[in-house]
Amino acid sequence: MFTGDGHRSVRLVDYPGRMPTSLDSGPIASTLQDLYAAAEAQRSGPGHRRKRDSAERLTAQQRADGAADAYMPIDREAGRLLYSLIRATRPATVVEFGTSFGISTLHLAAAVRDNGFGRVVTTEMNAHKVAAASATFEEVGVSDLVTVLNGDAVKTLDALDGTVEFVLLDGWKELYEPVLKVLEARLPVGTLIAADNASHSDAGPYLEYVRNPAHGYVTFNFPSKRDDSMELSVKV
Ligand SMILES: C[S@@+](CC[C@H](N)C(=O)[O-])C[C@H]1O[C@@H](n2cnc3c(N)ncnc32)[C@H](O)[C@@H]1O
Repeated sequence: MFTGDGHRSVRLVDYPGRMPTSLDSGPIASTLQDLYAAAEAQRSGPGHRRKRDSAERLTAQQRADGAADAYMPIDREAGRLLYSLIRATRPATVVEFGTSFGISTLHLAAAVRDNGFGRVVTTEMNAHKVAAASATFEEVGVSDLVTVLNGDAVKTLDALDGTVEFVLLDGWKELYEPVLKVLEARLPVGTLIAADNASHSDAGPYLEYVRNPAHGYVTFNFPSKRDDSMELSVKV
């Protein structure tokens, strides 16, 4: 179909056989809309900045418990990128560091669902968030695909069985490097690792590690939102 100015207009009806993805419609899509709306309301509400400023002096667990109500989600474009990468690379096991309320996990689970095989193992150390995210996964119908590990990812991931072909790092940034090292023996050549908020100063040691060719990654950084970036690394 062509518009009056000669440009081709592409509409879904031009592709009648196209199946909607789990991100376009259905319970995952509508739950993501609700969760993003709640996260946005929280971000623009009072108290948000104060929590972040006082976080530095606390332990990882204290910070996780202090942020028990904070969504801190990946943004929508990053979610769509993760969905697309998983559709393209078709991993059997996806591991996520940092579940929070499950916004990123739902993108990962949507891709695994639409691939037709695979599983997501996600990690969270705040008990309230573990319960809330698990209830969401149950409601949305992805609890058969998603395992939530409750506790410090550096410890819980140590007991993981099998190989891992896709990793999302989105917990506390200073733990990106230790979490990667826990997983490293289980990462076959071709594993993709996405590290969100790579411009955060605490992610520095992680970036140094994956950018050192001696450690066996090809790595790439790109801007993801204002003042921030994502680091994508492939095990080679
Ligand atoms: C930025 S939020 C994750 C947001 C989530 N990925 C999303 O897009 O909705 C970081 C989360 O990581 C959790 N976390 C931080 N350190 C952790 C650790 N060592 N083990 C498990 N979870 C951790 C925090 O409690 C917090 O909920």
